[in-house]
Amino acid sequence: MAYLQLLSYIAPEIYRPAAQLVISQGPTMWWSKLFALAPAAVLSFAAPSGFPASGNGLWYNTPGNLWSKTYLPVGNGFLGAMTPGGASVEITQLNIESLWSGGPFQDPAYNGGNKRPSEAPAAHKAMESIHASIFASSTGQIDNIEALTTDPGAYGSYASAGYLISTMNISGPVTGFARWLDMDEGVARVTWSQSSNYFTRETFCSHPSQACYHRIASSNATLPSTTFAFATLGSLLPTPKITCLDSRTLQVRGFASEPGMLYEILGKVQSTYGRVACTALSANNATISVTGATEAWIAWVGGTEYSMDAGNAKSNFSFRGADPHASLTSLLSPASSSYQDALVQHIADIKATLYSRFSLSLGQKPQLNIPTDQIRAAYQVDKGNPYLEWLTFNLGRYMLASSARGTLPANLQGKWAKDPAPWGADANINIQMNYWSAEMSNLDVTRPLFDYFEKTWAPRGAMTAQTLYNISRGWVAHNEVRIFGHTGMKGGTGAGNTALWANYPESAVWMMIHVWDHFDHTNDVAWWKAQGWPLLKGVASFQLDKLIPDLYFNDSTLVVAPCNSPEQSYITFGCAHAQQMIWQMFNAVEKGFKASGDTDIAFLNEVRSKRARMDKGLRIGRWGQLQEWKVDLDSPTDTHRHLSHLIGLYPGYAISSYDLGLQGGLIANRTNTTYTKSQVMDAAMVSLAHRGNGTGPDADAGWEKVWRAAAWAQFGNAPKFYHELTYTIYETFGPNLFSLYNPFDPDPLFQIDANLGFPAAVLNALLQAQDVPSFDIPLVITLLPALPAAWPSGQLKGARTRGGITVDLQWSNGKPTTVALAVDSNPISASRSVRVVFAGKIVGSFTTKPNFRTTIQRF
Ligand SMILES: *[C@@H]1O[C@H](CO)[C@@H](O)[C@H](O)[C@H]1NC(C)=O
Ligand SMILES: *[C@@H]1O[C@H](CO)[C@@H](O)[C@H](O)[C@H]1NC(C)=O
Ligand SMILES: *[C@@H]1O[C@H](CO)[C@@H](O)[C@H](O)[C@H]1NC(C)=O
Ligand SMILES: *[C@@H]1O[C@H](CO)[C@@H](O)[C@H](O)[C@H]1NC(C)=O
Ligand SMILES: *[C@@H]1O[C@H](CO)[C@@H](O)[C@H](O)[C@H]1NC(C)=O
Ligand SMILES: *[C@@H]1O[C@H](CO)[C@@H](O)[C@H](O)[C@H]1NC(C)=O
Ligand SMILES: *[C@@H]1O[C@H](CO)[C@@H](O)[C@H](O)[C@H]1NC(C)=O
Ligand SMILES: *[C@@H]1O[C@H](CO)[C@@H](O)[C@H](O)[C@H]1NC(C)=O
Ligand SMILES: *[C@@H]1O[C@H](CO)[C@@H](O)[C@H](O)[C@H]1NC(C)=O
Repeated sequence: MAYLQLLSYIAPEIYRPAAQLVISQGPTMWWSKLFALAPAAVLSFAAPSGFPASGNGLWYNTPGNLWSKTYLPVGNGFLGAMTPGGASVEITQLNIESLWSGGPFQDPAYNGGNKRPSEAPAAHKAMESIHASIFASSTGQIDNIEALTTDPGAYGSYASAGYLISTMNISGPVTGFARWLDMDEGVARVTWSQSSNYFTRETFCSHPSQACYHRIASSNATLPSTTFAFATLGSLLPTPKITCLDSRTLQVRGFASEPGMLYEILGKVQSTYGRVACTALSANNATISVTGATEAWIAWVGGTEYSMDAGNAKSNFSFRGADPHASLTSLLSPASSSYQDALVQHIADIKATLYSRFSLSLGQKPQLNIPTDQIRAAYQVDKGNPYLEWLTFNLGRYMLASSARGTLPANLQGKWAKDPAPWGADANINIQMNYWSAEMSNLDVTRPLFDYFEKTWAPRGAMTAQTLYNISRGWVAHNEVRIFGHTGMKGGTGAGNTALWANYPESAVWMMIHVWDHFDHTNDVAWWKAQGWPLLKGVASFQLDKLIPDLYFNDSTLVVAPCNSPEQSYITFGCAHAQQMIWQMFNAVEKGFKASGDTDIAFLNEVRSKRARMDKGLRIGRWGQLQEWKVDLDSPTDTHRHLSHLIGLYPGYAISSYDLGLQGGLIANRTNTTYTKSQVMDAAMVSLAHRGNGTGPDADAGWEKVWRAAAWAQFGNAPKFYHELTYTIYETFGPNLFSLYNPFDPDPLFQIDANLGFPAAVLNALLQAQDVPSFDIPLVITLLPALPAAWPSGQLKGARTRGGITVDLQWSNGKPTTVALAVDSNPISASRSVRVVFAGKIVGSFTTKPNFRTTIQRF
């Protein structure tokens, strides 16, 4: 609803797109209604002057009219902003990363969705009886886990921080209108002519200054009278106080909910020439106006009283920090001193973060004569368009760098939400997928993610381990964790069987793939000792105690119970997803033990012995599928969105690096899983094929397609990889290339995971280096494993693989022409054997000696 109200702010102007050339025909083109001059003409456009010559940007000839489909994102991780463009009026939607309703700010009794200590004995009894019922059941199932869940209480939502309204007192026809997102510079721009003046608007959020900027300028004349104001408009935020802090500074102070978390925004206006004045009309309405200037700009900063450092017992899990006013004041003063300096510093930061260490070419030819929405509208499944795919790849990395580098990680909206966001940070695929491309595309963005686990999951999660599971070491979190450490099982939602969402004690196990991968890619031993290893040890300790003997098959293995694949309905034991991931996590413990400096050999030995006994989650079922559950319950017509039991194919490695000696064999004379690698891979492929294309009766989201694309690339199947990749864009990506959860809704919801996962799927077709259970097993680096015919030539520079290796790869005519590999100066293991493979042939091999370099040119 909010956007409808917004539209009424936009003056009834006629937007006339920038046209270079008029050709006749085409009476019903979409823009003909907008085009006052020649309603029956087809235009050939040109990208606006200032649009990157590389083509690395998104551009449009009309202002955005729908937040999730046409607005353009800027952000610095701390703050986000969605820009519609606009001539005399631009209304930018704002976010502050920690602005969430709910939690202890809304309800002082909030406790992370956990059982009270007094309820713990009943929970432990319930857990015991659930175990017994599962093993006693003829099919190894129960129908609910309600006794373990807790009402979510003040669960809360990620909230919008309102809007910045920027106006100019001008009317009359707008000509030459264009707006674009320059992804080379991380700046959203608008240009147009009106009343014989040429205007530009510019919006960006700078990571170095932690501030956002909006500037309006005329190239050759005094600006009409210009105003800046903040307002909540249609958003559901309680009305804040909006005042003039001084003649050029606006202050917004309000609460995320009532009662709720305090937030503040400060915006300071500067101009070149002219006069700046602030007028307060009421307690909730103040405006800064600028007259007689040639340029005017506002720098704004925002924050809340949330503090991740207060999410522990010592702070009574209050998550409450200081009033943000003082720190915002000290940020604003340097941030608002020079626009030019801030812009230069911001562009340098974007280039250093996104492009100086990594680059990709898919052999794309920029289409500088067609606006992005038209390129998108013409896009077809399978046929594809390397330029649009390259843009989508770049947008994914741009959005990750623009949303992940605050104090909190990128949530399921990144940091962009106009309404109370329906999702926070689901941890059964979504937040994981957000970070899939980070290590390999050399983005330094994961620290806030790991801080988030350490400071918001682990402390409350230790309590959950105790009260729900009667486990007194380590910690556990479930699925929908949020920023207030919601670690319990979230019940009482009334959304079908609660277990589908709530019963997911493996969320942190999955995240340990990221923790291990960060170490394996960066060799950052100091980080590993201080943060990576303690996280891994905490999660592994809990899972060691949680594994129990399988009393259904009595095959002497250890299994998880109760488990269900994420969002799937059987509640059973020994789920493939959990078993594969826990096994991988135990391998990471062994691989990372030495570097950790930990001397707890008893822990390492326990991990080794339980790893040997545990069920490995790999079983071939009655229709040749890889079983999703230990009992063969799989249906061949199940096209569920998740590929949970294929976690070991991608992004994990329990399937794709399968080793019979470690994972298969005869178990206690009862179960025979003596499979070869090709049997396991074939079974995984049967399961993947039966899961469909990511449009089932249950869902049609982008992330499920991105996951399928990456999985097909893992099989080296280029046509199926490209089918899913192009289908992702075709089916679910909007004109602004945002991934839409319900793409056919008139006002669809944005979910960022497919945007951020897209680059990872692309990379998995170009370069693979799957993890292995131990450093003794060679690391295989596969070149162009699933290169689609649409990308015959290209280049990947600065890609990172595990083992601390940087890869520069060039290809043409579908084959590599040269690949250079460079080992870091400090690899974790200095004697790891590496094989470089193309088209099933080993084309090079080496060991990971420090600073080792090699170039391969024969394939
Ligand atoms: C600590 O938090 C609990 C809710 O989790 C609340 O009931 C209690 O009053 C708080 N104690 C203090 C000392 O603030
Ligand atoms: C909880 O754990 C304690 C200590 O290990 C044990 O004595 C007790 O029997 C357990 N309770 C249940 C219900 O399993
Ligand atoms: C806007 O401009 C018009 C015409 O130039 C003028 O009459 C009017 O007073 C201006 N309004 C404001 C709010 O400055
Ligand atoms: C400003 O520049 C535009 C385009 O170059 C021109 O058409 C217009 O007349 C100029 N206006 C003034 C006030 O100089
Ligand atoms: C602030 O007051 C002005 C003048 O009454 C009004 O035009 C404007 O819509 C108000 N702004 C908001 C956000 O309510
Ligand atoms: C497995 O062992 C348990 C406990 O010893 C026993 O009750 C159960 O009947 C056995 N199940 C099977 C299938 O052998
Ligand atoms: C497995 O079966 C063989 C032959 O029946 C027997 O010799 C062996 O002891 C059994 N092993 C176990 C672990 O039960
Ligand atoms: C286990 O399966 C493998 C492969 O299918 C087979 O070769 C082997 O004989 C089987 N072992 C037993 C004891 O059934
Ligand atoms: C995707 O799968 C659905 C359901 O099976 C089918 O109707 C549709 O044609 C498929 N589309 C593509 C592009 O694969």
